[in-house]
Amino acid sequence: MTTILELNGVTKSYKQGQEVLTVLDHISMQVNKGEFGAILGPSGSGKSTLLSVIGALTSPSNGEVILNGRNVHTMNGKEQTSLRLKEIGFIFQQSNLIPFLTVEEQLLLVGKLIKQKERLQERALELLSHLGLAERSSHYPEQLSGGEQQRVAIARALMNEPKLILADEPTASLDRERGKSVVELLVKETKERHIATIMVTHDESMIRDCDWVYRMR
Ligand SMILES: Nc1ncnc2c1ncn2[C@@H]1O[C@H](COP(=O)(O)OP(=O)(O)OP(=O)(O)O)[C@@H](O)[C@H]1O
Ligand SMILES: [Mg+2]
Repeated sequence: MTTILELNGVTKSYKQGQEVLTVLDHISMQVNKGEFGAILGPSGSGKSTLLSVIGALTSPSNGEVILNGRNVHTMNGKEQTSLRLKEIGFIFQQSNLIPFLTVEEQLLLVGKLIKQKERLQERALELLSHLGLAERSSHYPEQLSGGEQQRVAIARALMNEPKLILADEPTASLDRERGKSVVELLVKETKERHIATIMVTHDESMIRDCDWVYRMR
């Protein structure tokens, strides 16, 4: 197995006036390629904070995050931006699609942000058809169901061929059935592409397909 992500003693504290609130307390973990893992825990336990630290959106107060052999938080801002664009795919609770772009354009936009611009449209259409969205490529987000919007968000996250997908409650706005199929799709893509996915969820029923579960208190 090849390790793609390593956390060593990750700690995150916020100063609240005189008090210090420690949200993440020495978290260490190792994630391998091909793994689909879940982070579970009650509201306020620090799940989103942990994903932000892994995704180089927030710096830890202490500890290190090693993604693909590189320490994410000793990089400069430019290197971090490039890392987020090329190596990480983000999926959030709401699909965060841009209302005035069609499904295909959503993918082309993230594709254009990186240097490798070959076969952009071809890659976008391949992904959309792979995720069962071929007939939806010229639709706007408001013309899609919630489940379809999340599938577009998955396609968009995969567009730059990331090594790691970070999904923060991707099923929270969906009903049980649609939520299940979104998770199944994420698992399938993780295995086929031999990447790693970390999903934050509240829902115990979503963890059956997981290779590991990390519980936060
Ligand atoms: N910028 C900040 N400044 C101070 N406290 C913060 C900040 N960001 C988050 N927190 C606190 O950190 C704790 C964890 O927040 P976080 O959003 O990570 O929780 P969560 O587990 O994702 O919760 P939920 O399930 O509701 O999304 C909360 O108590 C929150 O108030
Ligand atoms: Mg959260």
